[in-house]
Amino acid sequence: MKIAVNKPLPVYPAPVFLVGVYDEDGKPGGMIAAWGGICCSEPPCVTAAIQKSRHSYGGVVARRAFTVNIPSEAQAAEADYFGLFSGRDGDKFAAAGLTPRRGEAVDAPLVEEFPVSLECEVVHSVELGTHVLFVGKVVRTWAFEEHLDERGLPDPLKVRPLVFAPQFGNYYGLGDKPVARAFSVGKSIREG
Ligand SMILES: Cc1cc2nc3c(=O)[nH]c(=O)nc-3n(C[C@H](O)[C@H](O)[C@H](O)COP(=O)(O)O)c2cc1C
Repeated sequence: MKIAVNKPLPVYPAPVFLVGVYDEDGKPGGMIAAWGGICCSEPPCVTAAIQKSRHSYGGVVARRAFTVNIPSEAQAAEADYFGLFSGRDGDKFAAAGLTPRRGEAVDAPLVEEFPVSLECEVVHSVELGTHVLFVGKVVRTWAFEEHLDERGLPDPLKVRPLVFAPQFGNYYGLGDKPVARAFSVGKSIREG
């Protein structure tokens, strides 16, 4: 029997977005945001919900730009570092051994080593409570050539994105194989 549980957000998985920004002094930095995701196909948009207390918040507001960088499973420690420490206390890129690469389309740095990076222009921001939700229009997308499939899409089984389970405090992978084919497996119910 399904019972009501006293936990508001058991929504798994959440993404592990390393939100890249230049701070108000122009230094590259960023933070992890798990409160985020895709929110529009055309124009392509993503969200990242950021608390005002984060050092990165000022950079997003000042430059109206951020990047979303998706780590692989093997980069969990580097990603977590960006969620543990503040850019107010030092250069997180240098400490984590990651390379900030200037975005070509927006005023924010990419994480060169992470398999997928999106350059985003802030088109909306909404004050929700603890977090301010930023909607970023994706104006350029980056990936490693060796991760692309025949359509030019980064293959999740090659990217091996790190994902997060809020409240459990664990990072996970996506697993080794798809469970079923989307827009397809449901047809079997009609066909009997
Ligand atoms: C797994 C994980 C998820 C996080 N998700 C968010 C989030 O969605 N929004 C947020 O404001 N902070 C989030 N944080 C906390 C920030 O990443 C953290 O406070 C960071 O040190 C802020 O860095 P900054 O002060 O340099 O901006 C998360 C941290 C971790 C480890």
